Amino acid sequence: MKVLGIETSCDETSVAIVDEEGILSNVVSSQVKVHEPFGGVVPEVAARHHLRNLPQIFQKAVEDAGIDLRDIDVVAVTHGPGLIGALMVGISFAKGLSLALKKPLVGVNHLLGHVYAVKLNFPQLEPPYLALLVSGGHTELLLFKEDPTRAEVVGRTVDDAAGEAFDKVARLLGLGYPGGPAIERTARSGDPHRYHFPRAMLERGNLNFSFSGLKTAVLYLLRSEPDANRSDVAASFQEAVVDVLVWKTMHAAELMGMKKVLLVGGVAANSRLREKLAEECSKRNLELHVPPVELCMDNAAMIARAGLDLARRGKFSDLSLNAVPYLSF
Ligand code: KG4
Ligand code: ZN
Repeated sequence: MKVLGIETSCDETSVAIVDEEGILSNVVSSQVKVHEPFGGVVPEVAARHHLRNLPQIFQKAVEDAGIDLRDIDVVAVTHGPGLIGALMVGISFAKGLSLALKKPLVGVNHLLGHVYAVKLNFPQLEPPYLALLVSGGHTELLLFKEDPTRAEVVGRTVDDAAGEAFDKVARLLGLGYPGGPAIERTARSGDPHRYHFPRAMLERGNLNFSFSGLKTAVLYLLRSEPDANRSDVAASFQEAVVDVLVWKTMHAAELMGMKKVLLVGGVAANSRLREKLAEECSKRNLELHVPPVELCMDNAAMIARAGLDLARRGKFSDLSLNAVPYLSF
């Protein structure tokens, strides 16, 4: 089955074609440079850029895959969560394509898409597994018992998402946008034990996260020590986030009796997080699956791959498919 996927939920415009074996093409156009001067994504500007770029990106994805448009079996598109105007561009394009090609439409939850980034390289992976999803808007522990398209949320952030904390602290440190990669780069030359930032809610039985106190702790430190070494602050902050994410994931795996762990979402690109989670999983003989860095970021291949499994299960959408900005599991 060949699935064409479309992703426009935030600031990446992407179209991909995948089948059961893997990726045939995956074209991603980032708007980072466009939003950089504003220090964050401007929703209206994002939507306009998607609208302008989507036709060329679609054309390139089809060319790269070396297939005929008639070979496409399903059109999959992110319908939430995300920015409403941005989502609507992708959804309208997908509906038009589905009508023109006379091929079924599948609406995909962006969060499920992130989990499916793993399947692009491990198509044989089947539940049960636990996924730590860490992105700009979400920090969730997802339990997949049997059906890989359905998850139970067993833990989530009660305030900021992990990626949001990276972005906000990067702003406090004057490191610019996007914050995650900037913090990681700056932290490389810093001492992660120079400052001890709080690790919130590390009590047994609690699988929720809280990062707003950590962000405030960085703010207070910078107020009392305006000349604090930026690299040490970045490294100490990153270590605190990683400690909490890894501790909670290991605790959840133990509580739920899971042997397989997935790390997905934009923050999964963080090398300290990848390294520490791998260490802790190996100590406990847990099987860890993490997508390659480029597939941790928003892309349409993961959406298409999730769409493929949804289509296999007959979970199609009709032309009433709409953008759902706060879609959850
Ligand atoms: O999944 P994603 O591309 O978009 C959303 O669905 O939100 O995630 C973007 C988030 C941003 O907050 C960004 O700062 C963070 O992922 N991020 C990172 C790294 N690369 C991206 N955070 C920490 N370390 C990184 N290397
Ligand atoms: Zn995302």
